[in-house]
Amino acid sequence: MTDNTSSYIKEASDLLGTQNGSQKIWAIGGGKGGVGKSLVTSNLAICLSLLGMKVVIIDMDLGGANLHTCLGVPIPEKTLSDYFAKSHTKLDELLTPTLLPNLKLISGAQDELGIANLRQVHKSKLISHLRELDADYILLDLGAGTTSNTLDFFLSADQGILVTLPEPTSIENTYRFIKSVFHRKLALMEDFLEISPIVDKVLNSKMSEKNTPSEIIEKAMKIDPVMGQRLKNEIEAYSPKLIINQCRTQADIDIGFSMKIISKKYFGLNLDYVGFLEYDATVWQSVKKKRPLILEFPGSSLVKNFESIIHRVLNLSKKNV
Ligand SMILES: Nc1ncnc2c1ncn2[C@@H]1O[C@H](COP(=O)(O)OP(=O)(O)O)[C@@H](O)[C@H]1O
Ligand SMILES: [Mg+2]
Repeated sequence: MTDNTSSYIKEASDLLGTQNGSQKIWAIGGGKGGVGKSLVTSNLAICLSLLGMKVVIIDMDLGGANLHTCLGVPIPEKTLSDYFAKSHTKLDELLTPTLLPNLKLISGAQDELGIANLRQVHKSKLISHLRELDADYILLDLGAGTTSNTLDFFLSADQGILVTLPEPTSIENTYRFIKSVFHRKLALMEDFLEISPIVDKVLNSKMSEKNTPSEIIEKAMKIDPVMGQRLKNEIEAYSPKLIINQCRTQADIDIGFSMKIISKKYFGLNLDYVGFLEYDATVWQSVKKKRPLILEFPGSSLVKNFESIIHRVLNLSKKNV
C-alpha cells in the first residue's frame, strides 16, 4: 500500500466514522434552518453533562453561529475562524466555559466563511482532530443544507441525528437530506469497499435517472451478489436517529413512525425514531432570557421529552417513542 493510498483510506475511514475511538461524536443536522437543530444540540449536550459526562459542543453553523446564545454565554473570543486561519491554533484553545462545569463550547466562525466554502484540507484537519479533544461526547450542530461538507461531517459522526418539523416542507427536506447522505456514503464506500465497478454498472444502467437507493442495492446484488451484499450490510448497519420537533398533536408524533417506514422502503435506510419534542412557549421564553431551557424550566414537559430522547439515544431504554 502506498502512502497515498493509506492516507486516502484513513481519510475515507475518518469520513465514514469507522474508527474505534472511545469518544462518541454526535452530529445534529437535516432539514432547513429554524427546525430546532441548535435547540436540540444544546439541550442534549446539557442532558449529557448533567448525567456526569464531559461534553464539548461545536457550532458548525459557520457564518450563522448562535449556539452560544442557546447556552447562555457571550460570543466567545476564539472561534473556528482562528483555527482555520492560523495553523498553530489548537482545537482545545477554542474551548469556552459554559454555565455547566463539564460542558464546553467551541464557537463557529463569526465571519462569512460558510460551511460550503470550507476547504478540504480544513475539513480533514478538523475531523481528524475532533477525537483528540478531552471529552466523552462531542456534539456538532451542523446548521442547514446538504453541501458535501455538511454531509461529510454528518457521516463522520458515530451518531447522526436528524431534526424535522411535522410539516410537509420540512419532511421533504429531511428526505432530501437522507437521499444526499445515502449518495455521499455510497461515493465514499465505492473505493473503500472496492465496489466501484458494480456501482458504476448500476448507475450506468438504463434506470439510472430514477434509481432509488434501495433499487441501487437490489441491482448491485444481482450484478455481484458478494459485493452487493457488502453494500447492503453497510447501508443496513447505518441508522441515523430522527427527532420530530414542535409536535402539537398525536398525528404530529406519529409522523416519525411513517417516516421510518418510508425511509426503509425507498432508501433502504433504517431510521431510528428516538422521540419527539412538544411545541412549547418555554423555548422562546428561555431564548429571550438567554438561558438554557433545561436550566430555566427543569420541570417542563419539554425537558421530559429531552430526557426520554437522551435515554433512547444512549440505549438506556428500549421503550417505543
Ligand atoms: N419545541 C419548540 N417549541 C417552541 N418553539 C420552538 C421549538 N423548537 C424551536 N422553536 C423555535 O424555533 C426557533 C429556531 O430554532 P433553532 O434551534 O434555532 O433552529 P435551527 O438551529 O434548526 O435553525 C427557536 O428560536 C425557537 O423560538
Ligand atoms: Mg441553528
